[in-house]
Amino acid sequence: MNKFIPISQPSITQKEIDYVTDAIKSGWVSSLGKYIDEFETKFAKYCNTKYALATSNGTTALHLTLVALGITSEDEVIIPDFTFVATGSAVKYIGAKVVTVDIEEDTLCIDPKEIERSITAKTKAIIPVHLYGHPADMIAINKIAKKYNLFVVEDAAEAHGAEVNGKKVGGLSDAGIFSFYGNKIITSGEGGIITTNNKKLYDKMKLLRDHAMSKNKRYWHTEVGFNYRMTNIQAALGVAQFDRIDELLEKKKKIFEWYQDGLKDISNIKLNFQKDGYKNVYWMVCIEFDRYKEKQRDRFIVNLKKQGIDSRPFFYPVSDMPMYDNCDTPITHKVYQRGINLPSYFDIKKSDVEYIVKAVKELV
Ligand SMILES: Cc1ncc(COP(=O)(O)O)c(C=O)c1O
Repeated sequence: MNKFIPISQPSITQKEIDYVTDAIKSGWVSSLGKYIDEFETKFAKYCNTKYALATSNGTTALHLTLVALGITSEDEVIIPDFTFVATGSAVKYIGAKVVTVDIEEDTLCIDPKEIERSITAKTKAIIPVHLYGHPADMIAINKIAKKYNLFVVEDAAEAHGAEVNGKKVGGLSDAGIFSFYGNKIITSGEGGIITTNNKKLYDKMKLLRDHAMSKNKRYWHTEVGFNYRMTNIQAALGVAQFDRIDELLEKKKKIFEWYQDGLKDISNIKLNFQKDGYKNVYWMVCIEFDRYKEKQRDRFIVNLKKQGIDSRPFFYPVSDMPMYDNCDTPITHKVYQRGINLPSYFDIKKSDVEYIVKAVKELV
């Protein structure tokens, strides 16, 4: 059989199989059941927040948070131009204006200076994204938010366990959202969660997650809600994964170090960065080629594929997509063309990383 090294793959052990089997056998297959409560309780504790609310995925988590914060179609929300499109989609669902701003070249996360320049009388919220596992500059962002009275919602979909000055992401602002899609640090198949310390916000999100059904009068609804619930089967998988999160984060770090060590002599490439005081969880190994343009990058991807190595391009600038307004974000537009993600799945062997490193060295 030809060699194929995938970019991503979940780590499933007997524990995951046992918990999911237990959930199915219990009959609690929809969104009631012990695993939902356990998942939410454990995740809130992990992020050092008072509350956590599980959802059907990370995108619905983001949408639910924005609705519950009272963001409307009259408002503007600032997001980084360099992110997965879901960050923008959630704002679009509300009809609010998406304002995309540039990133820092080292962390690849939203640049606080660019946020401040983009604030108008209509700005209501900022969504910093902890991209590829590195936290955004939450200290500067929170300062700006305080000055202009804005909400901050961390998009931590790719950064479970990442930290700023020893504090976990998801607990650093009004609310944080995480994704448990199959390629994330921990997975529940599909799934998401919202973390917050704000009781009023939590209550509102909980109500809206379940069709806004009255607590005291079943099947009575005073507003339009959603079905954004996670199932107990998903939560069973999520709990099993959560119980292994330290082991999984350790594996991500090790994989990054293998690449770092293998590629240390190549001067015209850059790997993931970690700013002082920040903990990067290296969700995906990033490699940027000096001065590459999109076509060269795409050729690199094809050439890796020929050797059985899967990879993926960096995200395209959100503002280049037809549904969004164009904007002037030179760093985003430079960086996206230069970067790819390399296989970073938990069970990748050191010998496979060595094989990839050799291929990268030859191609570069
Ligand atoms: C930065 C970012 N935000 C939001 C999401 C949305 O999460 P989900 O795929 O669970 O809806 C993702 C997921 O891939 C993401 O990478």
